[in-house]
Amino acid sequence: MKEQIAKMKENSLKEIEKCIDEKQLNEVKVKYLGKKGELTVILRGMETLQPEERPIIGKLVNQVRDELETLLQKKENEFKRKELEKKLETENIDVTEPSKKIKLGTLHPITQIINEVEEIFLGMGYQIADGPEVEKAIYNFDKLNTPPDHPARDLQDTFYITENILLRSQTSPVQARVMETQKPPIKIICPGTVYRSDSVDATHSPVFHQIEGLVVDKNVAMTDLKGTLEMFAKKCLGENTKIRFRPHHFPFTEPSAEADVSCFVCGGKGCKVCKGEGWIELLGCGMVHPNVLKFCGISPEEYSGFAFGFGVERIAMAKFGIDDMRLLYENDARFLKQF
Ligand code: DAH
Repeated sequence: MKEQIAKMKENSLKEIEKCIDEKQLNEVKVKYLGKKGELTVILRGMETLQPEERPIIGKLVNQVRDELETLLQKKENEFKRKELEKKLETENIDVTEPSKKIKLGTLHPITQIINEVEEIFLGMGYQIADGPEVEKAIYNFDKLNTPPDHPARDLQDTFYITENILLRSQTSPVQARVMETQKPPIKIICPGTVYRSDSVDATHSPVFHQIEGLVVDKNVAMTDLKGTLEMFAKKCLGENTKIRFRPHHFPFTEPSAEADVSCFVCGGKGCKVCKGEGWIELLGCGMVHPNVLKFCGISPEEYSGFAFGFGVERIAMAKFGIDDMRLLYENDARFLKQF
């Protein structure tokens, strides 16, 4: 019996060594250690042995089984490692291979103008404020000294959600929100989207962008407004830009003005961009109406301020020479790529 076991051990070890993959290894395992395997059969045959021989043979069989199992395991690990190595080799990433070109977008002309204007005003010590696009009528109109019978409140001009809630028709309501929550000195600009019930054409869109400005402090004068706008115009449109005020009316400023800039294309001689005028209308502005200060909890006896507001599209169109506003909203990459 001992010889039979020794022979079996020798054969099985040889067979294991010869295996070239996990499948063969498994076959050898079944052949010797399986339910009907050779070692199992030997174990069963132990009944026929003399009682004193049984422990000796039993021990031997166990030793051989341990040995076989250890070798099988070792071989199996080896095969697994080799397989993994092969996989890693075939799945190797060639980092030197040229990558796919990612097409980079460009900032939209409107975003570019907003960024530029923000930079200019941040440089003058302003902060950027923000407010909701779905706004209460009280902020869009009432607190801005725009009474219920004002034409701007008409259904034909403004998109209403309910009687008292609307899509803001200007960025001016942010003025009221800031004045209510901050104490002077206040120096803010607020870029944002605004909505008006206008039909689309080359110079109108029901959705467009404005930038609002507000300064409230002690002794703020109209000259401060003019100086600020002149500085802004020079930085944004060129060092030689001049500015002029024309009288105008806005409910929330008194006095109010419209500011024009000398045409930055022809320098004031008259060209296509300024339509022969030499001047381009830039924005609305004025001294904050005492009622507005009062409605927002600021004493007009103690404080004064100026405000201004302008359309971003208008500046973008003038600066980039775009003659149709609709081009700005079509998202045609061939158009946008140019800026
Ligand atoms: N909100 C005005 C508009 O949409 C623009 C404007 C004019 C804003 C004068 C101002 C201002 O702050 O003082 O036409």
